[in-house]
Amino acid sequence: MTIHVAGISAAVGAEVSGVDLRTLDDADFQVIQDAFNQYHGLLFRHQSLDDADLVAFSARFGDLDHAPVMENGQTAVPGRPEIYLVSNIKDDSGKAIGSLGSGEAVWHTDMSYAENPPYASALFAIEVPASGGNTSLCSMAATYAALPADLKARIANLRIKHDGTYNSGGYLRQGVEATDNPREAVGTYHPMVLAHPVTGTPMLYLGRRRNAYIEGFEIADSEALLDEVWQYTALPENCYSHQWQVGDLLLWDNRATMHQRTPFDRNARRLMKRTQIKSVAAPSSAAAGS
Ligand code: OGA
Ligand code: MN
Repeated sequence: MTIHVAGISAAVGAEVSGVDLRTLDDADFQVIQDAFNQYHGLLFRHQSLDDADLVAFSARFGDLDHAPVMENGQTAVPGRPEIYLVSNIKDDSGKAIGSLGSGEAVWHTDMSYAENPPYASALFAIEVPASGGNTSLCSMAATYAALPADLKARIANLRIKHDGTYNSGGYLRQGVEATDNPREAVGTYHPMVLAHPVTGTPMLYLGRRRNAYIEGFEIADSEALLDEVWQYTALPENCYSHQWQVGDLLLWDNRATMHQRTPFDRNARRLMKRTQIKSVAAPSSAAAGS
């Protein structure tokens, strides 16, 4: 098998073929790491990974996060604290075994309400529905580049508060108060325009739309400016949409991309396992001198 990297859309993502992620040598891993810095999203098909293999592959990129608490109140898969389940499947008592249900997961990036959000997430498909439940990635460098010059100038030194109240499926996170007041909501401020830590490329950093708030603004002004910026976000030419097959692994950079999932039949089964790779540095601004 020879490793091969091929772009899968104009702005984001590449498929890496000719590798078995259980037995990667250092040379092939270097090819993967370089491709990840260039494409910000990587697809690997036909993988058969057990929990230990998924954790071992993910950990080649850096230390892994402890998975966040799932909607069912469980912290993780017993014995595998790094693995988070994304699933609509219910156990015998009718309780969901994982998070995000079967509805849409709106455009977002993972856990940006944290001070130092994960660098990357890996999502591995165990069971997939016949249709729907597609996951799209959007390039945030291409999104930034698409903004008109005057808008780039207006946002250059602003910070957004990234909401910690709701997850991308609209579910309340464990232990927080429900609120739709962006000023009162729990969250963390990050620069609105980041520099990619390896290439320095400017990237728009939005987190998600719900309860987002621009520091120091009146709510109405914050909402208006966010709406203006979001008009340039997730333009089809800047996105890649993935239709899953069992054995696919999709790895994305949580600063250089946002992702979204389409809804699917609630009676169909979808089971995905996710790991998150820690970031070594908090998001840093692309503005000169900061
Ligand atoms: C995630 C996520 C979407 C999906 O795991 O962070 O947003 O396709 N998943 O299940
Ligand atoms: Mn996500």
